[in-house]
Amino acid sequence: MDEYSKVTPEIISALKNILPEKYVLHGDKEQLEPFSHDEISEKKYSHFPEVVVRPRTADEIAEIMKLANREKIPVTPRGGGTGLSGGAVPIHGGIVLFIDRMNSILEIDTENMVAVVEPGVITNDINTAAAEHGLWFAGYPMSFQSCFIGGNVSENAGGGKAVKYGVTGRYILGLEMVTPEGEIVKLGGKLVKNVTGYDLIKLLVGSEGTLGIFTKIIVKLLPMPGKVVDLLVSFKDTASAIRMVPVIMTRAKVIPAAVEYMDLLSVQTACEYLDEKLPYEGSGALLLIELDGNSETALEEEYEAIGELCMENGALDVFVADTRAKQEKIWNVRRNIAEAFKAVSPDQSAEDITVPIACIPDVMPVLDKLSEEFDIQVPCYGHAADGNLHVTLVRNPDQTIEQWEAVLPKALEKLYEATAKLGGVISGEHGIGHKRKQYLHYSLDETSIELMKRIKRAFDPNNILNPGKIFDL
Ligand code: LAC
Ligand code: ZN
Repeated sequence: MDEYSKVTPEIISALKNILPEKYVLHGDKEQLEPFSHDEISEKKYSHFPEVVVRPRTADEIAEIMKLANREKIPVTPRGGGTGLSGGAVPIHGGIVLFIDRMNSILEIDTENMVAVVEPGVITNDINTAAAEHGLWFAGYPMSFQSCFIGGNVSENAGGGKAVKYGVTGRYILGLEMVTPEGEIVKLGGKLVKNVTGYDLIKLLVGSEGTLGIFTKIIVKLLPMPGKVVDLLVSFKDTASAIRMVPVIMTRAKVIPAAVEYMDLLSVQTACEYLDEKLPYEGSGALLLIELDGNSETALEEEYEAIGELCMENGALDVFVADTRAKQEKIWNVRRNIAEAFKAVSPDQSAEDITVPIACIPDVMPVLDKLSEEFDIQVPCYGHAADGNLHVTLVRNPDQTIEQWEAVLPKALEKLYEATAKLGGVISGEHGIGHKRKQYLHYSLDETSIELMKRIKRAFDPNNILNPGKIFDL
């Protein structure tokens, strides 16, 4: 276990020499509270920082990292705080490095079809700026209205459109970052192809803030599709809905922009939370299928084929949302499921398993078994078409907190074991953080974990950058 130093008044003064005083927050518990947690509902994953700094430049961050290295103080970078594995939580205290002031869109380069942005830009703002030029960034995490692009890169955020467009990493062409030892490094550029040296960008993307702090990001943009149609398809039960997911792609031979799965409890909880209505009466689960393209006729043919295929395979109803207003109403419900569950109860564990797409239907019996064996509720929703399901383990109201706490680790082990048997992994987009590190062995063999630890040591010999995440050294 690493020994870290405390943030003393001398360290605070040193930080105030690097940054204007008002950007060094300390001493006021209420002011520090928002930095003690992310979006995980369970309190046991929170931890207070000793100080929060809000730098504006790469040079300031480099100075902070040099100081932290010299004094052995842990530093945890933080973006929008929308994470779900504790990536931005300073579990050893120390410094939280909040990048909210680094929020400029430096360039929308239409000739190269890239955006150059700072890490504190809200992800959706990139799209607002790009839209003026008929371009967009295809990353679509459910929190896109509040998460920061820097956090998306750190976590390699996925989201609703990964089945067709891939996850954040596919769009990151270049990075400027500060190493844990305080050097400023530039990687990649406005380049579509680049095999020059090891692909450190790929390594940095998804490294959960443990290898470097991004200060500039070059994001690839795509031409915006001209037309979008959403289908909301209801099914009598979870099995018939989820069975359809691989069929849409393999039989209709269409890769939709999104296929989201929502079981009844998930959609109902979100609708009640938002006081919204969707046509789910009498159904056990819904699929939200999005198609996009430029030809209205082609899109119509595709959605009719998919609609028919769903009806042939036991769908109860197909609702077509072909206006922005109808689409936004449905997606808003979908995006708010996690938030709605959180509002209902903090005693829950939002999971993020991913399995090969052909095995998606095999997940449902696993969930039924978990629910029965441990007497807990196991609602499920997620980005089904890419195999990523947000299984959520929820305490039964008649269970005591003690019973719940005793049962949860066992239920998680069963879930992860079954996922591994299906060829899946314990996280598809939320990451490991400190929430899942004890379960990493379900997805990675010992040698792989050891190699990752060696990489961490090479980047961060003093283990001061976001220590205790992914694994302990
Ligand atoms: C979602 C978040 C929880 O898909 O990843 O809603
Ligand atoms: Zn998700």
